[in-house]
Amino acid sequence: MARKKIIAGNWKMNMTPTEAKALVETLAPLVQNPDVDVVYCVPAIDIVPVVEAVKGSNVEVGAENLYIEDKGAFTGEISANMLVDAGVKYVIIGHSERRQYFGETDEFLNKKVLKALEKGLTPILCCGETLEQREAGVTLDWINLQIKSDLQGVTAEQAASIVIAYEPIWAIGTGKTATSDQAQEVCGAIRKTIAEIYDADTAEKIRIQYGGSMNAGNCKELLAKPDIDGGLIGGAALKPDFGQIVNYDK
Ligand code: 13P
Repeated sequence: MARKKIIAGNWKMNMTPTEAKALVETLAPLVQNPDVDVVYCVPAIDIVPVVEAVKGSNVEVGAENLYIEDKGAFTGEISANMLVDAGVKYVIIGHSERRQYFGETDEFLNKKVLKALEKGLTPILCCGETLEQREAGVTLDWINLQIKSDLQGVTAEQAASIVIAYEPIWAIGTGKTATSDQAQEVCGAIRKTIAEIYDADTAEKIRIQYGGSMNAGNCKELLAKPDIDGGLIGGAALKPDFGQIVNYDK
């Protein structure tokens, strides 16, 4: 069975609620493709207005983060229950910006993955190497370690439902995309890791995205690769170009 492609925007820390509503309206006629799942992962404050604005459309909403506890004295944090109640379906976990700027470790990210799954949210689990790691030839070992650590305690059935995003750090926001062969090599290796941890069936089902300067010009070649099931898009998700990525097959 062919895996359905999933194109997700990661808006990062962009778009006020007013701007968010306007962007959803601009994109609405451009992101209709029945063969693709479309997700907007938006800042916490935009979740409620964006859920409202996409109602009745093909677009689902994702969060960019969640906390590992259900409730209580965790000033500034947002729980999985809050996200679910607001209509969120996906949550980005382990983006390199959170690992780098907020010190999130694999052990902590594993707890986030488990919490998201417990509450019925689909994790978009990010992994990726630095330029130094790529040049040192340790990319595949590093990604393998991230995936194995972040998925501790996740069942095969749960793993089959998640999305993994391979995002080489050197390609994020730099305009420097991995070549389609580089991206395929790592996405294929991730699928092999999943087969190793679980089984061939789970590996066949799990969806793996590429992220890092994906745009209207390079998406077609990347998405044609056998193990690339979608994209996690930063900068180009804030522009009408996002519609061209969603319709890469037209
Ligand atoms: P850019 O598409 O801006 O490179 O960002 C990629 C990314 O980090 C998506 O999560």
